[in-house]
Amino acid sequence: MNVATKPIVTEIIRDDLEWIPIDAVAGTRNMAIKVIKVDRKKARVMFKVRFGPNSEAPRHYHFAEACAITLSGRWAYDEGEFAAGDVAYEGAGSDHTPTSEDGAELFIVLLAPEGEHRLLRNHFDDGSTSDLDFDFFAMLEGKSAAEAEAIFGALLEA
Ligand SMILES: [Fe+2]
Repeated sequence: MNVATKPIVTEIIRDDLEWIPIDAVAGTRNMAIKVIKVDRKKARVMFKVRFGPNSEAPRHYHFAEACAITLSGRWAYDEGEFAAGDVAYEGAGSDHTPTSEDGAELFIVLLAPEGEHRLLRNHFDDGSTSDLDFDFFAMLEGKSAAEAEAIFGALLEA
């Protein structure tokens, strides 16, 4: 039989990244992320989120669907509460305001529709919005906390 086979590639990604606080640029309260992998071709982003104690993300709209696995802790939004092992599937077009009293860590995969550069849109109390797109996650991929702080400093000055 002459069947062309694709090589199977396994990539082991160790969790040696530092948490990057994102409050200053993402409008969150007491939250941090680690960007594990950004793949524009396949239109997906893998990252971890850490909810600190008494944390909150702004209400956000999903251009991309999300699969969010809770690794530890507890968090919630109006649609439900999540604990370690629970999975939140958030479809494109959904929106919600996640919070956590005690803190939590999540692993999240964002899957964007074909041709969509935006992933999430944050909505703020003053009516303004800000989009988190592939560029946002790509600029933080594999970065240390200090490198990210320098990037954010330049962004906020601009
Ligand atoms: Fe979400």
